Amino acid sequence: CRVRHYKFNVVMKNTTRLCSSKPIVTVNGQFPGPTIYAREGDTVLVKVVNHVKYNLSIHWHGVRQLRTGWADGPAYITQCPIQPGQSYVYNFTLTGQRGTLWYHAHILWLRATVHGALVILPKLGVPYPFPAPYKEQVIILGEWWKSDVEAVINKALKSGSAPNVSDAHTINGHPGSLTGCSTNGGFNLNVESGKTYLLRVISAALNEELFFKVAGHQLTVVEVDAVYTKPFKTDTILITPGQTTNVLLTADKIAGKYLVAASPFMDAPIAVDNVTATAVVHYSGTLATSAISLTKTPARNATSVANNIIDSLRSLNSKKYPANVPLTVDQSLFFTVGLGVNPCSSCTNGSRVVAAINNVTFIMPTTALLQAHFFNIKGVFTDDFPANPPIKFNYTGSPPSNLQTNNGTRLYRLAYNSTVQLVLQDTGIITPENHPVHLHGFNFFAIGRGVGNFDQKNDPKKFNLVDPVERNTIGVPSGGWVAIRFRADNPGVWFMHCHLEVHTTWGLKMAFVVDNGKGPNESLLPPPSDLPTC
Ligand code: C2O
Repeated sequence: CRVRHYKFNVVMKNTTRLCSSKPIVTVNGQFPGPTIYAREGDTVLVKVVNHVKYNLSIHWHGVRQLRTGWADGPAYITQCPIQPGQSYVYNFTLTGQRGTLWYHAHILWLRATVHGALVILPKLGVPYPFPAPYKEQVIILGEWWKSDVEAVINKALKSGSAPNVSDAHTINGHPGSLTGCSTNGGFNLNVESGKTYLLRVISAALNEELFFKVAGHQLTVVEVDAVYTKPFKTDTILITPGQTTNVLLTADKIAGKYLVAASPFMDAPIAVDNVTATAVVHYSGTLATSAISLTKTPARNATSVANNIIDSLRSLNSKKYPANVPLTVDQSLFFTVGLGVNPCSSCTNGSRVVAAINNVTFIMPTTALLQAHFFNIKGVFTDDFPANPPIKFNYTGSPPSNLQTNNGTRLYRLAYNSTVQLVLQDTGIITPENHPVHLHGFNFFAIGRGVGNFDQKNDPKKFNLVDPVERNTIGVPSGGWVAIRFRADNPGVWFMHCHLEVHTTWGLKMAFVVDNGKGPNESLLPPPSDLPTC
């Protein structure tokens, strides 16, 4: 195993998209940011230097961070932000993981432009459990706003209503040819006839799930969230903010140019950015004059297409890569996720849209929770997060007259190595919306999923405890539920939140505090000396 050193200079960079320019926050002047390459077992050291006017922190989305929560990154959860002019070295080891993950800023809405791929190759000499691809390519899906992204969210917070949707989706930083405003037509993937490519698709989008498709070609899904899956063929993948999906693409069609498209999936009747991002798969030897074969992604409300894709995902569960689903449950939790409305005297609307888990709208502390936990600082958080929603909802009936939530910085405490079953139920109170919930510090197994209310009695009988897909981010279906299981084998404080950035901002977030175990390698390590202070 090696130690990999990277340096991230976070700097402003004037960038032109959609016929207009604006300064954006970038890593090393690149958008998307540079790719980090490592192998399973390697230690990664990234020195992040903050040269911009904003406070900053970087999260390594999906990295387990076993005992090294200090390097996880969410601001005010595991660390105080890196202030302008300061730096911090993220130091972590990639234990037991290989595949595609990513990094992004984890403060304000800076992740709109501060993000990039983290590619973890298998250990030297260890093959993939699928035919070796000829080449690999990172594909990052995102969203682009013409205006300053911090201004977009600040304006929404002032009024108390929803922020403007983005102006275009992007593939590797470019909206592509359909905007009529692209200088280069978007990202080009050059391929050789007959060869197979591994596409490492990452969704860095802020507020929308995306369909992704290549004209005329099938995709074979082989891994999600850095865990191998049973291979399955599909012409479209669905990817929610935060997720990653590795697919094989074989260039087995007539040499030519084929459109690649990414467009939103949203089954709620709310405003979305309807601009399809495009790129091109370009076979070598294609004439410059040949036309591009077009394709259409599913409609934005194509729920059945989305469900089919999700239901096809299974863990590989081979001898070498077994799915170790916890078969017993120490802690059974039921969390509602959804929106609400709270009074707001400083808002122009007089009220503000909020979001909550179990009726708790999470309030960010001003000291990092992990520090408060490690140094036993009182008064920063309470560990009384409810295991069940205090206010019972009739999820399919009419919304309750009281949409109000309670503010709190409440955590749920878990004993080291306890097994947890968590049912996440979408309340669909204001509008039914899919919530991509991301858990830091763990992978979990997605053992069940359904529409309507979770049925405590009958739904558990249908749980898949054999080969459920294992991941770190999962879409709670609109007006439905998911059940997940994980083992609390990572001591520290671990954030869990909706990866729709606007919902996180509104308070759809909470954290688990996992106690130390008694064994020699079962406690949180002490913080590094350069850990930023608040
Ligand atoms: Cu990808 Cu807490 O985030």
